[in-house]
Amino acid sequence: MRILIVEDSKINQFIARDTLVKFDIDCDIEYAQDGEEALNFIFQDQIDLVLLDIIMPKLSGLQVLEYLHVSEIKYMPKIIMLTTINDSKTLKACFDLGASDYIKKPFEEMDFISRINSTLREIANEKKLKQTAELLENQNAELKKVNDSLKEAQYHLVQKEKLVAIGELAAGIAHEINNPLAFVISNYTNIRQYVDSFENYIKDMIFKLDREDATLESIRTDNHFYWNKYDMDFVFDDFPELINDSQKGLDRVAKIVSSMRNFARISDENYFEYVDPNELIEEVLIVVNNEVKYVATVEKTLAPCPPVFCNKGQIEQVLVNLIINAAHAIKGYRTDGTGLIKINTVPDLEGVTLSIGDNGCGITEDNLSKIFDPFFTTKPVGQGTGLGLSISYNIIVDKHKGKINVDTVIGEGTSFKIWIPYTQPI
Ligand SMILES: Nc1ncnc2c1ncn2[C@@H]1O[C@H](COP(=O)(O)OP(=O)(O)OP(=O)(O)O)[C@@H](O)[C@H]1O
Ligand SMILES: [Mg+2]
Repeated sequence: MRILIVEDSKINQFIARDTLVKFDIDCDIEYAQDGEEALNFIFQDQIDLVLLDIIMPKLSGLQVLEYLHVSEIKYMPKIIMLTTINDSKTLKACFDLGASDYIKKPFEEMDFISRINSTLREIANEKKLKQTAELLENQNAELKKVNDSLKEAQYHLVQKEKLVAIGELAAGIAHEINNPLAFVISNYTNIRQYVDSFENYIKDMIFKLDREDATLESIRTDNHFYWNKYDMDFVFDDFPELINDSQKGLDRVAKIVSSMRNFARISDENYFEYVDPNELIEEVLIVVNNEVKYVATVEKTLAPCPPVFCNKGQIEQVLVNLIINAAHAIKGYRTDGTGLIKINTVPDLEGVTLSIGDNGCGITEDNLSKIFDPFFTTKPVGQGTGLGLSISYNIIVDKHKGKINVDTVIGEGTSFKIWIPYTQPI
């Protein structure tokens, strides 16, 4: 500790110094004769404690305090006033300007030393506190750095998991597209034949009409003959149906492709938009249809909902994982065709609950506490990365300030409920 004694009386300086030495106060002592010299010391050196006389030449103790009070000083020392005056107004002014204590002159040894000691303890405590605060600040900065790099790593993990999911879904989706495409192609062959029939019928009839000896009677007979020859009743009947069916098939292909494109989009994780939760579910069901349709019936109860402000790609990713998890829980557990996945939307005043329930195997109590842990999976090696639920938790709870809950009964099934608020806090 460094103590500065500011006192114009040499005798008082010596008494103060001798008392400090006598009581083994561990400190370096500096001296100043007047206020000006004191300020020089305080600004140039790191002084911990100033014993400051009030009445001095050049600048009084009060003026020194005033000066310090308005100055930007990096290291402000504690100040104890040394005074012969009993004027409480002056003392109050000293305290108002930052003095922390006062010692009466002539010094009374015990009073002097106990006040110095208590102030030195205060200084030591403040120093410790400051050091701890600095340490905490540094640790905080370090943690922030780690957190930032974790976020970065997590973002890549989310994208990777999404790509894995797309890879797994790709074969199923190709199959989904293949079905409507196959019947559009087969319809197209029939349509081609019908167009040929039209063409032949018209050509033959024109030939008959152009004959010189054509009569109304002969035209009627020819028409009847060719109409039957080319089966025009059937052609007229079937043609619109084929066109309608093909249109439906092509619409389905377009829908699958558009859902897939939306899902595969590597979305900017900070891009939020208003989305109808029910439309989102419909889109996801198209993407996962092939994984679900052989194991379970999907029962939807979708209540009309206000739009939800969210990152569409991420919520889709959560729904895909929950629905595929449900299908996996049913597959192999219910092989008699009774597999059921129930999907509900329930809006409330502040947000919407999307629930995905299954009548699959359920989750054991032991596993229940781990399912949101990254890399926890009960699936065979190579089938599950164990990231689906941990990423879903992060997306719903951290990114969207929502909630995710699970209810499960062994042997009866599991229901995941996610709640997403309509709006996000700014
Ligand atoms: N609906 C469910 N019914 C029963 N168990 C489930 C259900 N959903 C999740 N689980 C359990 O939680 C585990 C973790 O699920 P999570 O989605 O995180 O990973 P995963 O499905 O194993 O792998 P992936 O990363 O491919 O999604 C699963 O392995 C399974 O044991
Ligand atoms: Mg999963």
